[in-house]
Amino acid sequence: MKVMSVCAVIVAALFTIVSGQSLAADAPFEGRKKCSSCHKAQASSWKDTAHAKAMESLKPNVKAEAKQKANLDPAKDYTQDKDCVGCHVDGFGQKGGYTIDSPKKMLTGVGCESCHGPGRNYRGDHRKSGQAFEKKGKTTKRSVLAKKGQDFHFEERCSACHLNYEGSPWKDAKPPYTPYTPEVDAKYTFNFDEMVKDVKAMHEHYKLDGVFEGEPKFKFHEEFQASAKTTKKGK
Ligand code: HEC
Ligand code: HEC
Ligand code: HEC
Ligand code: HEC
Repeated sequence: MKVMSVCAVIVAALFTIVSGQSLAADAPFEGRKKCSSCHKAQASSWKDTAHAKAMESLKPNVKAEAKQKANLDPAKDYTQDKDCVGCHVDGFGQKGGYTIDSPKKMLTGVGCESCHGPGRNYRGDHRKSGQAFEKKGKTTKRSVLAKKGQDFHFEERCSACHLNYEGSPWKDAKPPYTPYTPEVDAKYTFNFDEMVKDVKAMHEHYKLDGVFEGEPKFKFHEEFQASAKTTKKGK
């Protein structure tokens, strides 16, 4: 009997671990519409970034010089090329993500979920936690969001696009590779700690009320919040 119940506890624990992990790994993308309606300030700042306009770059005769430099054909339309779109949209080849056959506006360009993680499973918790904070001052642990697919470290996600080329320092590189490598021009060198502070490429940062607490917390979170702007709604 004792052995049986110990087994049951172990099985239950394993199930929790496995299902917790797969919840994050399988989390579906759904596009930036919902994120943007709550986080208006970030969304409007993001709209002016190169990430937001990444699909434009795949159109014919856009960024012709940069294309020539990388031995691409400036006159060619690359907007439906599977060797290109993956890094210029959200969630290509993943559940709920961008597809070439039925392209969705809210997944076009490098949007919220490309950095923050596929949002379908965690964004409901943002709403609930925001309400609990407003009504009762109750905070929620970030670990709850992380289990549902929200990313608080970013680096692996950036690397999958920026460091995905042959001979890259990033060990998981596999084709299709980015045409823009440090060999094409030193300005394409990716340095996470510097680049992630570029608000012109991410978005401006705005002061949070502190609804979420604890680890995992982004390593520059306090630094960003210390100089963050305020909005009427704060979010
Ligand atoms: C219903 C409204 C709502 C939606 C939808 C929503 N959020 Fe949030 N989000 C919030 C609230 C409320 C907070 C807590 C803000 C605070 O602390 O002031 C928050 C916090 C955050 C934070 C800060 C987390 C931290 O470390 O403290 C990030 C990043 C974020 N949201 C991104 C997103 C993304 C990406 C999406 C879409 C996938 C999204 N949110 C959808 C309401 C929402
Ligand atoms: C889904 C792929 C993808 C992800 C994820 C991604 N990027 Fe990018 N990034 C791009 C593309 C594509 C461009 C160029 C857009 C264009 O001009 O068409 C870009 C542009 C940039 C630029 C602007 C470079 C310039 O010339 O000014 C910076 C800085 C940058 N990214 C940093 C980051 C950081 C930091 C992260 C992670 C927090 C990140 N990116 C995540 C694909 C990605
Ligand atoms: C593995 C991811 C990846 C793939 C695949 C990819 N790109 Fe990109 N692309 C990027 C990143 C990252 C940048 C931003 C580089 C930077 O500014 O540091 C970028 C930037 C660009 C730019 C702007 C360069 C500039 O200097 O403004 C163009 C144009 C572009 N890509 C076209 C293409 C085309 C065409 C293809 C297919 C042949 C393609 N990309 C495939 C990741 C990718
Ligand atoms: C290229 C990567 C990237 C993209 C795209 C991106 N973010 Fe962020 N975002 C970040 C980083 C990095 C932080 C800083 C995280 C921290 O301080 O904990 C951040 C922070 C936030 C925060 C916390 C408050 C703040 O302003 O710092 C919210 C809310 C947020 N992002 C929402 C969004 C929404 C909504 C979108 C899409 C419209 C989006 N983000 C697109 C990288 C990105």
